[in-house]
Amino acid sequence: MNHLFKEGSDLNNTTLLLLHGTGGTERDLLPLADVIDPEANVLSVLGNINENGMARYFKRLAAGVFDEEDLKFRTKELNDYIDEAAKEYGFNRDKVVAVGYSNGANIAGSLLFHFKDALAGAILHHPMVPLRGLNLPDLKDTPVFIGAGTNDPICPPEESTELETLLKGAGSDVTLHWENHGHQLSSTEVQAASKWYTAQKNRLN
Ligand code: MLT
Repeated sequence: MNHLFKEGSDLNNTTLLLLHGTGGTERDLLPLADVIDPEANVLSVLGNINENGMARYFKRLAAGVFDEEDLKFRTKELNDYIDEAAKEYGFNRDKVVAVGYSNGANIAGSLLFHFKDALAGAILHHPMVPLRGLNLPDLKDTPVFIGAGTNDPICPPEESTELETLLKGAGSDVTLHWENHGHQLSSTEVQAASKWYTAQKNRLN
């Protein structure tokens, strides 16, 4: 997959997996990595789907309606790609923490829903419930931060709390952070994610 990799201070420590929103690029979330953990390795992947010139991680049938077969296929493709990149660059596959926004948060959520060991933790900015009706893997060692907006038209508050409930049901330690905004990613939300990451650091590393 098209990507960029930036080696941090120690290949054995955390690698932040950056996943952009629809129409974004692999450069979009680099400033977040600097705020969250400037020492971390960074693997930032460009979505493989081209929707009218906009990069995404999986196909959708309409706004907010996902092509579930494609989502499953792309989730495995991304997981396999992280395995491959860990071998190529030598980072620790067990210490990958996703940082995703919107469509990128949705594929990160889908990684959590499908694979027990895909991620050591995840920061999900404005995610939706990626799929319903799945038996989730055991996520007791996988803490998750969800950033949500009380006025988010793309991801309504009920959907954020539903995602929280599903992840908690799988054993994950979930922190749900609210902003009185819509779908945009505010600097206060990024700061909250960074604070959460610092508090989790011993667990994530
Ligand atoms: C999605 O398609 O993943 C969500 O609707 C968020 C987005 O607009 O990208």
